[in-house]
Amino acid sequence: MKKNKKTLSRETGIEIAAICGRHFLKLEHLHYGYWTKDLEVDLANLRIAQENYVDFLISNIPDGVNSILDVGCGMGQIAKKLIDTGYKVDCVSPSLVFAQQTRDLLPEKSKVFECYYEQLQTENRYDLVLFCESFQYIDPEKAMKKTFALLDREGHLLICDVFRVDTKEKSPLSGGHNLTNFYNIVSEYPLSLVKNLDITEETAPNIDIENRVFKEVVGPVTNLVGNLLDSRYPLLSKVLKWKYKRKIEKIRHKYFTGQRTGENFKKFKSYRLLLYKKNVI
Ligand SMILES: C[S@@+](CC[C@H](N)C(=O)[O-])C[C@H]1O[C@@H](n2cnc3c(N)ncnc32)[C@H](O)[C@@H]1O
Repeated sequence: MKKNKKTLSRETGIEIAAICGRHFLKLEHLHYGYWTKDLEVDLANLRIAQENYVDFLISNIPDGVNSILDVGCGMGQIAKKLIDTGYKVDCVSPSLVFAQQTRDLLPEKSKVFECYYEQLQTENRYDLVLFCESFQYIDPEKAMKKTFALLDREGHLLICDVFRVDTKEKSPLSGGHNLTNFYNIVSEYPLSLVKNLDITEETAPNIDIENRVFKEVVGPVTNLVGNLLDSRYPLLSKVLKWKYKRKIEKIRHKYFTGQRTGENFKKFKSYRLLLYKKNVI
């Protein structure tokens, strides 16, 4: 699969988020946090919330599972924890940076497939295929077809990710496949639903945190840089504003209108842990 402009900038965005998260907050993961009631919603607690998320995820892996394929493994820390817990884990990563980090982290017997999941070629079969916040980036029809072929006889599919719900209003938040459409696609496969847990409430605080960061840090910093540019290089500033007018307006609308809130996340999204088991025929 050739990297088009959209996938390339998305991937670079995720890689930049990883560098910043690790440097400033010692984060080891790229997913949302699982915010328990007793945890104050604060950026400083994101690391704890992400660890809660991993514990929650692992606690939902069914008994009898041995081998796992971690699709979109990010920095490889979930795979590492799974291996430390006793599972045999292989990973898929289209990002060269993450693939190398994951290789450095995992024992040699763990294979890291450096490709898009849609392109994965292997004879291996797995007891469980895991998508931890990576399902939203993959065409659901292609993901399901590939996964079904990769599952062992009684294999499981585990997805923990954000989905879009059906609403009349247009969502101010992007991302996630349509949930109804996803259920329709899965219903075409001989798979039984084992768990369907709604964790929208526990993940929504992430959006409030993100909103606060944009309002209190990114916005004011951008304004200061803009003002400086206006006074030092007025002509250049004018040209840039004119040339990127539409892009600037799009970013302003997406991040700075205060619409990216936990409340809106709960209204337009559904964050779910979905566990399916292959039917034995
Ligand atoms: C939000 S990050 C989640 C990373 C990790 N699972 C975690 O929870 O920290 C999304 C991941 O999906 C991966 N990804 C995006 N598109 C993919 C594709 N088509 N096939 C496989 N992985 C993909 C990215 O490289 C990234 O590692």
